[in-house]
Amino acid sequence: MAPRPMIAGNWKMNGTKTMAIDLAQNLVARSKAAASVPRIALCPPAALLETVSRAVSGSPIVVGAQDCHPKDKGAHTGDTSAWLLKDVGCTYVIVGHSERRADHAETDAIVKSKAEAALAAGLTPIICVGETQSQRDAGKANDVVRGQILGSLPSSATATNVVIAYEPVWAIGTGRTATPNDVQDMHAVVRETFAKGRTDGADLTILYGGSVKGSNAKSLMSVPGVNGALVGGASLDAADFWAIIQSVA
Ligand code: PGA
Repeated sequence: MAPRPMIAGNWKMNGTKTMAIDLAQNLVARSKAAASVPRIALCPPAALLETVSRAVSGSPIVVGAQDCHPKDKGAHTGDTSAWLLKDVGCTYVIVGHSERRADHAETDAIVKSKAEAALAAGLTPIICVGETQSQRDAGKANDVVRGQILGSLPSSATATNVVIAYEPVWAIGTGRTATPNDVQDMHAVVRETFAKGRTDGADLTILYGGSVKGSNAKSLMSVPGVNGALVGGASLDAADFWAIIQSVA
């Protein structure tokens, strides 16, 4: 069965406490007034997780973090464990975002260990995959994404305890989006790779990410195999983010 659509907002390293409360309250009011809403997750910076978690409490909106450490606790200055994220109210955690893979040299093995930690803590990991422009130009997009999935997916992953986000790196924050045909092809690659040897592939939530906005959400979200969006820049604007939410409601 096709999963219930999901829209997640990745705020990245943006926001203040005041802005976070305003944005979260605005979206809570809209979601409470709406006839139907998809799954909605807000992923603010770590320092704002508890604030946003409090602001959305009692509403259909939940909170996700942008990263976690593979270990439960210990001498890892500056890191946050999946257990603590769960403790402060998170439901999801993004792992393996291309910015973390690039800025922090995160390999598939590291991403996998983070996803395993998330599952052990009772969080749903949103595992990000996607090719760079040069990989796509070299005709390697399918192989790169297949390899990332095989390397990053915990062995205990099921269609309902993880989410995969396909985010072509060249479409992130650039204003360029993949064509509906490319998105359909790549989501099929993701689903086939996940589904190999299992029967629950149709139930997996696969998000598209990369310059999704209110103005292009309808056409991207109607592509077969797309179950929602991981939204960066546009998730910082309540009206634009709400338009994306409505495109799948
Ligand atoms: P963008 O970012 O929507 O700003 O392109 C998406 C993401 O990085 O998750």
